[in-house]
Amino acid sequence: MKKIFFLSLCLLIFSSITHSQQARRNPNWKPSIIPEPYSMQIGKGYLKLPYYLNIISPSNKEVRQIADQLASTLQNMANAVKVKEGTTPGNKTILLSLVNDPSIKPNGYRLQITATGISIKANEPAGIFYGVQTLLQLFPDEVEELRERKSPIEWEIPILTIEDHPRFGWRGLMLDVSRHFFTVKEVKAFIDQMVKYKFNLLHLHLTDDQGWRIEIKSLPKLTEVGAWRVERTGTFGNFPKPQPGEKASYGGFYTHDDIRDLVRYAGERFVNILPEIDVPGHSLAALAAYPELSCTPGDYYVSPGDRFMIWPGGGQHFYGTLDNTICPANEKAYEYLDKIFTEVASLFPFGYIHMGGDETARNFWEKSEQIKALMQKENLKDLDEVQSYFVRRVEKIINSKGKKMIGWDEILQGGLAPNAAVMSWRGMKGGIEAATQGHEVVMSPTDFSYFDYMQGDASIEPPVYASLRLKKVFRFEPVPAGVNASLIKGGQANLWTEQVTNTRHLQYMIWPRAFAMAEALWTAKEKRDSSETGWNYFVKKVEDHFDRFDNAKVKYARSLYDPIVQVSKKDSSTYFLNLSTEVSGLSIHYSFDNSFPDQYYPKYQNALLIPNEAANLKMITYRDNETVGRLMTIPVADLKKRAK
Ligand code: ACM
Repeated sequence: MKKIFFLSLCLLIFSSITHSQQARRNPNWKPSIIPEPYSMQIGKGYLKLPYYLNIISPSNKEVRQIADQLASTLQNMANAVKVKEGTTPGNKTILLSLVNDPSIKPNGYRLQITATGISIKANEPAGIFYGVQTLLQLFPDEVEELRERKSPIEWEIPILTIEDHPRFGWRGLMLDVSRHFFTVKEVKAFIDQMVKYKFNLLHLHLTDDQGWRIEIKSLPKLTEVGAWRVERTGTFGNFPKPQPGEKASYGGFYTHDDIRDLVRYAGERFVNILPEIDVPGHSLAALAAYPELSCTPGDYYVSPGDRFMIWPGGGQHFYGTLDNTICPANEKAYEYLDKIFTEVASLFPFGYIHMGGDETARNFWEKSEQIKALMQKENLKDLDEVQSYFVRRVEKIINSKGKKMIGWDEILQGGLAPNAAVMSWRGMKGGIEAATQGHEVVMSPTDFSYFDYMQGDASIEPPVYASLRLKKVFRFEPVPAGVNASLIKGGQANLWTEQVTNTRHLQYMIWPRAFAMAEALWTAKEKRDSSETGWNYFVKKVEDHFDRFDNAKVKYARSLYDPIVQVSKKDSSTYFLNLSTEVSGLSIHYSFDNSFPDQYYPKYQNALLIPNEAANLKMITYRDNETVGRLMTIPVADLKKRAK
């Protein structure tokens, strides 16, 4: 009795409504769901959930698992959440039901919140899972910080009905775990984050010049040697190569058990893992382990980020100063690849295996007697056909393991393998060509989906050779005009990690751009195009989710608040500065005298004449007297170089 009295007293003291619940009392408040659902009818008022909350789940194992995950998310020291098996709701319960309702589309769900309770209905467990992700976004922001909360929360959930389903079945994010290694725990955290936004595919780029990250028991040196490199800190790409006697201390790899653990974890969250073994190029780590796989005898090392590939630009083909390719003319290569794909196929239940196929430097092949002999024997007229010969043989191996092959769009060169799917990265044209030939396509063009690119001005972002702003990602349309839409399986964003050494920076590069990618892949196109649910509406939602990320202690980029800088040149001493922002309603304040601008400094209005004597431009953005952007400094000499 005493205990109950004490508990009641605690509830009375601590149950005041939270800051974010207070904000929701504003009559203009609207829920911010990312990705935007297919339809949402907002009712009046709130459902107040009891401290002791019951989730009712059918006996279906997968749904029960979803119910347990939801309970664990909502659980804290004070809110007691129980999962009960059943099919009928109680008072103010969360009822999950599997139904047979043709009005709910594949992988879709119906979420109803009334004054008496919450119901999520779907035809399959995945739909229930997506409904739960939406429901969690309807909880106040504090749902993200529960593990630390000492007091109970009286959750208020807006009364509404949502009918929802995905536009595409392939909603992917690619993580390059070769250039920098991310542990199983870190990859799980990545999965936790992606599923909140209804991504369902994790593409792991497991091998590259800088590290081989998956144990292959029949070829142990791939990880004994290939998973480790000498350690370097600074700007990747400019590092010195390994010095004689230097210890290879940076790296790591996933054991078979690790992979099984990841696959299980992902599967419980309705995520498929697509493994990529990138061949024949990008294979220096494999050659460090087994140099006999090269056409060019030599000593190979796992690259620490040294510049052994040369990109001359100006339309000239790239080339290697080291041969980082598996030799298509070497029968042993196919024996090794058979072993590799046997183990990969047995570990990953997903129906596709990615064989890379991108950016094969072929300058060493030109000189190779082995390649010349292969060309003669197989009647191959050029190196495109040599590459295609390799890709076709790899496809045969992958198909023989019961899997479909997918590769980067270079696999179109010299003729596409008969059953291959294409991941289009050099723009959309490879995807269009593949679809025209009747092949399946996943769109991930650099200009909309390369999340290793900078998301704001080069003067303030960690340097990368190209940029991709949030608004551009929001405009991504995976289905090009005139293409058979049924062959476009969906799309994905790719995070290459040359310059991403840790998970905080990984988060910074992914968010908020993955919000926009989630909308491009889940939400109906018309919604993104409409003035009501288009860009400005999206930005408001992004900002609400920033609050949630703050609670969850997940990093994100605020680059969307920073000015977009353009410079035009009238003559050799007359340069004009044009500033704008992605987000409307911001003011940009600037200085040319090296002092720090604040909101009382001149406000940018129209194109500005750049003072010739000035050394630096400094800028910062404000909204309603609060800084939202970061202080940016650009030397005037750099501005002039940017002039069009
Ligand atoms: C790629 O970005 N090389 C696929």
